Amino acid sequence: MHILVTGAAGFIGSHTVLELIEANKGYTVFCVDNCSNAVADSNGNAICLNRVSQIVNKPIPFKNLDLCDGSALEPIFKEQKFDAVIHLSALKSVAESIAEPLEYYSNNILGCLNLVKMCLKYNVTNFVFSSSATVYGPPEELPITEKSQTGKGITNPYGQTKYMSEQIMMDVAKANPNWNLIILRYFNPVGAHKSGLIGEDPKGTPNNLMPYVSQVAVGKLEVLTIHGDTFDTIDGTGVRDFIHVVDLAKGHVQALERFKNPIETEIYNLGTGVGYSVKQMVEAFEKVTGRKIPTKIGEARKGDVASVFCDPKLAEEQLGWKAELGLEDMCRDLWNWQTKNPKGFM
Ligand code: WQD
Repeated sequence: MHILVTGAAGFIGSHTVLELIEANKGYTVFCVDNCSNAVADSNGNAICLNRVSQIVNKPIPFKNLDLCDGSALEPIFKEQKFDAVIHLSALKSVAESIAEPLEYYSNNILGCLNLVKMCLKYNVTNFVFSSSATVYGPPEELPITEKSQTGKGITNPYGQTKYMSEQIMMDVAKANPNWNLIILRYFNPVGAHKSGLIGEDPKGTPNNLMPYVSQVAVGKLEVLTIHGDTFDTIDGTGVRDFIHVVDLAKGHVQALERFKNPIETEIYNLGTGVGYSVKQMVEAFEKVTGRKIPTKIGEARKGDVASVFCDPKLAEEQLGWKAELGLEDMCRDLWNWQTKNPKGFM
């Protein structure tokens, strides 16, 4: 199968490209990204994909393009016959989306619309969409299953764009029965490939917990602010379903297997099913790295909920996929990446 991977130069994208190739299932990839959230070399190639190429010892075909520019997108569909698309590209910062809603709606929705239009025009019938647990809003009950309510109480434009994109594509799939759609809802991806050559490289100050923790540990940041310690959880701090990014990437490889036969739209939670608190994550990281993480308690972030974790049973049953890496692996691999790349991909 020849796979178009959008957002391939991102944290999830680069790891997914790597696992597609290492799966040795005959997948060939073509990668696109506008590198708005990735570091490019002097030739305009994403450094993280150069690293993937180094790991797999194969060239990684890449084109720097923006999905919002429909005229840039169509030539690759004319030149190549794609058997499936894995659509990962999107702006993904919750805080930034609140400050720049129009940027998020236009980039994430228009990019998705342009891509789906090209798929229908060029008869690319298999589509994997990178969605997020954010679409569930504040969970009514735990664990979250694929049947849990979505679309209510989403507190930020980023989450709204993921929810709206899901709705758009599910309607397209209903109107085009030969178009096979799989939606993957990610929980909290952390960690890095064991080589330490690729990993999460947030622009500016990290919004997310574990990149922040690792930057404190390496001395880039001074202290971790724990956003609230009065939640109704084991120790008062927020609980999340942290999943190793390599496990997450492998979930995409398994999802492609479903396209061997025509499918109705399928939705899967990609998480471990186990929730860990902020304090538990910090303690795990300190234990693995031997580094002390100075912390202080701050206000809870607006919209933050106490606990979010999923029931990953459906993915296990239908995709034959289950997260295999645990907290120690996440912390060890994150630290290996951070210490080998204190300045990220610069
Ligand atoms: C996790 C926990 C914070 C930073 C978001 C998006 C979600 C997905 C993952 C894209 C919470 C606490 C965090 C810090 C802290 N992104 N925290 N100090 O909010 O669960 O999910 O990122 O798909 O869509 O919503 O992840 O890592 O920001 O927070 O105490 O400096 O860590 O309060 O309890 P979150 P997070």
